[in-house]
Amino acid sequence: MIRFNNVSKQYNTKDGELVAVNDVNIEVKDGQIFGIVGYSGAGKSTLVRMLDGLEAPTTGEIDINGTDIAKLSGSQLRKQRQKIGMIFQHFNLLWSRTVIQNVMLPLEIAGVSKSERIKKAQELISLVGLSGRENSYPSELSGGQKQRVGIARALSNDPEILISDEATSALDPDTTNEVLDLLLKINKQLGLTILLITHEMHAIAKVCDEVAVMDSGSVVESGTVFEVFKHPKQDVTRKFVSEEFSSPQEKDDLTVTELTDRYPEGKLIRLTFHGPQSELPIVSNVIRKFPDIEVNIISGSMRQTQEGAIGSLSLQFIGKTEVIEESLDYLKSLRVETEVISND
Ligand SMILES: Nc1ncnc2c1ncn2[C@@H]1O[C@H](COP(=O)(O)OP(=O)(O)OP(=O)(O)O)[C@@H](O)[C@H]1O
Ligand SMILES: [Mg+2]
Repeated sequence: MIRFNNVSKQYNTKDGELVAVNDVNIEVKDGQIFGIVGYSGAGKSTLVRMLDGLEAPTTGEIDINGTDIAKLSGSQLRKQRQKIGMIFQHFNLLWSRTVIQNVMLPLEIAGVSKSERIKKAQELISLVGLSGRENSYPSELSGGQKQRVGIARALSNDPEILISDEATSALDPDTTNEVLDLLLKINKQLGLTILLITHEMHAIAKVCDEVAVMDSGSVVESGTVFEVFKHPKQDVTRKFVSEEFSSPQEKDDLTVTELTDRYPEGKLIRLTFHGPQSELPIVSNVIRKFPDIEVNIISGSMRQTQEGAIGSLSLQFIGKTEVIEESLDYLKSLRVETEVISND
């Protein structure tokens, strides 16, 4: 169990005091994949640097399985650090070393014998799907493969916690998905707790159990991924969630006014689905039950999360106001969240 208790971090900069992390409380259970999402500068990396003991909190404490990190002395801290593996956006590999030499590096530092090092590194290279590439140099690998080396190296000391700080941010969408699948596999197979730091909500949706949203140093919202996606409370969370569920057209930032200009008739409705309702034929039910309404699909998207599907669908309803109202009541009776984006 990892606990951040009222953790704050201030830096004294030339421009005065800067609060990078502000009174953060987070609890990460063993074996969870816990996501921390936030825009650039939100304080995410500062938070995990404190977890690794690279920096000390200004106030508050960080507790890992009953140990207060800030209270550890040099050698205890080094031991504790071995229980945490880290992967980064830019891989941080040594370019003059081969894949296997990179993976063996932490074992060398830990004083493990050469034959043990080779055995362990080979196991990990196979786990991350790089068998056969042991003697390649990082420059000969794709981004996804480099990150696999990063993951194998991070696992070499059998850590209890893996921190991924924007590890997929430099990768294309397909490779990102492969790396996320690998993290899921590792989480399940090794029972490893993973802290996934990202600004990509789809990564959170795909693999995380719980998520904390950070903004200007504070955790503004947290909970299960399912809950946070279903009912985002804060503006910043809504922004992240809608970025994830917007169609390319909506991503062009169509404002409500632009949408109404484009679809001037009837009502624009956004439906949000989660879990079981996402499997119901909702649109065809509405059309069948209210044959006088014309339904146009404007945009839509669905996501699989660890707890089931979540999605949203924007529709234009054209017809008599009373009938539209009735159809909205019907949707509500199906427990589909219904939001009227515009009235005509
Ligand atoms: N060593 C430092 N000295 C002074 N200010 C710092 C230091 N490290 C971080 N900061 C400031 O703290 C704030 C949080 O930075 P941090 O790197 O934690 O953000 P982040 O959420 O990881 O951002 P990104 O998504 O860009 O990686 C920023 O305003 C940053 O400028
Ligand atoms: Mg960062």
